[in-house]
Amino acid sequence: MNISEIFNSMSYGPAPEQSDYVHDWLKSHKEGFKLYINGKWVAPKTSEATIDSHNPATGDYLGRIAVAGADDVDAAVAAAAKAFPKWSKLPGHARAKHLYALARIIQKTGRFLSVLETLDNGKPIRESRDIDVPLVARHFYHHAGWAQLMDQELPDQEALGVVGQVIPWNFPLLMMAWKIAPAIAAGNCVVLKPAEYTSLTALYFAELCEEAGIPPGVINIVTGAGETGSHIVNHPDIAKIAFTGSTGVGRYIREATAGAGKKLTLELGGKSPFIVFEDADIDGAVEGLVDAIWFNQGQVCCAGSRLLVEEGIADRLIEKVKIRLSKFRLGNPLDKAIDMGAIVDPIQLDRIKSLVGKGAEEGAEIWQPDVAMPAEGCYYPPTLITNVSPASIVVREEIFGPVLTVMTFRTLQEAADLANNTRFGLASSVWSENINRALEVSSMIKAGVVWVNTTNQFDAACGFGGYRESGFGREGGKEGMYEYLKTKNEWLTEKGNLVPVPKATKPADNGNGLDRTAKNYIGGKQARPDGGNTLPVLSPDGKLMGRVGEGNRKDIRNAVEAAYKNAGWSSATAHTRAQVIYYIAENLSYRAEEMAARLVSLTGVSKKAAQAEVDMAVSRLFSAAGWADKFDGLVHTPPVKNVALAVNEPMGILGIVCPDVMPLLSFVSLIAPAMAMGNRSVVIPSERYPLIATDFYQILETSDLPAGVINIVTGDRESLTKTLAQHDQVDAIWYHGSKAGSEMVERESAHNLKRSWVNDGRARDWMSSHGEGRRFLREATQVKNIWLPYGD
Ligand code: NAI
Repeated sequence: MNISEIFNSMSYGPAPEQSDYVHDWLKSHKEGFKLYINGKWVAPKTSEATIDSHNPATGDYLGRIAVAGADDVDAAVAAAAKAFPKWSKLPGHARAKHLYALARIIQKTGRFLSVLETLDNGKPIRESRDIDVPLVARHFYHHAGWAQLMDQELPDQEALGVVGQVIPWNFPLLMMAWKIAPAIAAGNCVVLKPAEYTSLTALYFAELCEEAGIPPGVINIVTGAGETGSHIVNHPDIAKIAFTGSTGVGRYIREATAGAGKKLTLELGGKSPFIVFEDADIDGAVEGLVDAIWFNQGQVCCAGSRLLVEEGIADRLIEKVKIRLSKFRLGNPLDKAIDMGAIVDPIQLDRIKSLVGKGAEEGAEIWQPDVAMPAEGCYYPPTLITNVSPASIVVREEIFGPVLTVMTFRTLQEAADLANNTRFGLASSVWSENINRALEVSSMIKAGVVWVNTTNQFDAACGFGGYRESGFGREGGKEGMYEYLKTKNEWLTEKGNLVPVPKATKPADNGNGLDRTAKNYIGGKQARPDGGNTLPVLSPDGKLMGRVGEGNRKDIRNAVEAAYKNAGWSSATAHTRAQVIYYIAENLSYRAEEMAARLVSLTGVSKKAAQAEVDMAVSRLFSAAGWADKFDGLVHTPPVKNVALAVNEPMGILGIVCPDVMPLLSFVSLIAPAMAMGNRSVVIPSERYPLIATDFYQILETSDLPAGVINIVTGDRESLTKTLAQHDQVDAIWYHGSKAGSEMVERESAHNLKRSWVNDGRARDWMSSHGEGRRFLREATQVKNIWLPYGD
């Protein structure tokens, strides 16, 4: 037999990882697992329900999980609230030592954790051992550093309080680490609920917390299904909810928390493109694909589930993928030599089968290799689907299984269009040996992560999270820390934002431009309101000062359309944007006296106060122009041969609802950073003093601001805001109004999961440093991480 024959005949023998010591641990809990609350193991108070955990690869029973009821969630929240004052006031170094202890204990128990994870979830031991567990340890290490550096790096920030965290089953340990590490590093205390299919590693982690000496109440683990999660989401004493899971539940959580004053981050589904250009390293791309969609059986929120391949190489690439898949080994996930393990649960398996079945009914061609399938257990073969279009169900819906759809493209623009033709925006992978092309398409893709010539790379230093319906907020990096912090003394709670509109009691003020009706400002032009109605604007003593248009739903839609058309502003250079904003400042200062006089007559403030407001507005424009080319991203150096470019991209189309207080300054303070960061905005100015904003557009008109960057619609604040919050083309909304209005904005923005920043009826001190700065810039941007590997 020659060497080539030996190679051809060789096949892997099974190499199962030892698991008896993990089974011993499971047996030691045969009476069932309890809840971990206040550093103790407690049985549910009243709930008698339990959930049995099974090994999806064999169906074997693993353990019995308690289901926490509302009273148990109350107890966990109370324990966390009790622990919070002390934990949050510990010196950063003390918290850092606790996080470091967790990182070390995870490393020391890594083998146990990976076996338990594989038994409970069905993922190959190769992955849990080499990817999940090391990333978990890395997350605690990285965040030990943030705890240590909090005072230096985040001096104006403070912890939120009790944080509620609900996680999914696809990366049980890793998602837990992504949630817990930043939360406790920042000084919060947590109540975390693992997914019902995969709670075991979180329960083992709770034991490790005891061993590592984490103070009671800092980390509480309550198990259960959706109802338990819902108790957490709706608990009034929780300051923030962090959720990873399905878009449907994410939307429910956005609605359920509306108006509750809770901070929220949502990491939801995806349908990520995997784009291969003709000049790619094709064999590299095939291996990349295997990692993109067959890693963790495709149960990955950022799975590269849509292959987009340049037409000329499509047949060749697909052929190579088929050959590769024909050699796939499915089977016992504890076997170190298998490629794919088991699907997490029969329910998920049915979901995959059903979606693929619907695809076939629509005419999609389903290809599966002829590989040996285990006789029992929850398995699904690697699947390739062709003959599909962007409208096909298998291309639109997240399948969350080992299923890849294939489409072709001819040009770079078409590739980017197809990539973006989804309501999601979590991740993407771009394959080309031409760095210009790869970076060009990376900048065009709307997703939180772009992996160039690589895929599924994660690191604690690189923020991870989505655009669009993939959710909002980032996990990892400094941006992830901000999600667990708030700015100290940001709001003036004693003052309101809104000034009641008085009744007209005096004759019109003929000296002040009566008969002049200010129109809306849309697409760089003055636009008559669609409904043709106008509203009176009165002075404080009830004199008619003029009229403004009563905007309606159609005006908002026109304004969004105008903003949509002017995408050029978002890609203009920072220097260009700065120049325009400086010019606006210059033109405002030319008209300072006139604007101050207008403020006096409209609001009744003193001349001195009005002048100070105008001066500060000019200064604020200078600040925004100054920031335009300074709020840069970062270059991360994750611990693989990669650089990750963290780019601050504009949100896109921003809805801005202004308060009545300091109507010129608040308006300018909001639009200026939005413009500086490259957003196009639809602005609803103060309802009480709209003439300030309509005067201001005369300044915009003479300042070289491209059409559509700022659009102004006057009228009834709440009804216009509702339309803006519901509009699917609006990417984010800032609201400064009442508490009820804040609730409405959060609820109505659930449909397209737009990011919202509301004031909950509180007022800001616009004259102070709280009226500008990084806080505004962070809200005006979202981080995209572009990973670039180098070397071999
Ligand atoms: P799910 O979103 O229902 O479950 C995720 C977590 O949310 C679990 O801990 C669950 O108990 C909890 N949960 C469920 N309903 C809740 C509620 N009303 N309030 C609070 N918490 C609640 O996901 P599921 O049903 O397990 O999977 C269904 C589909 O969701 C998958 O096929 C996949 O498409 C998607 N998914 C996406 C994930 C991601 O990482 N983006 C992770 C898991 C699922």
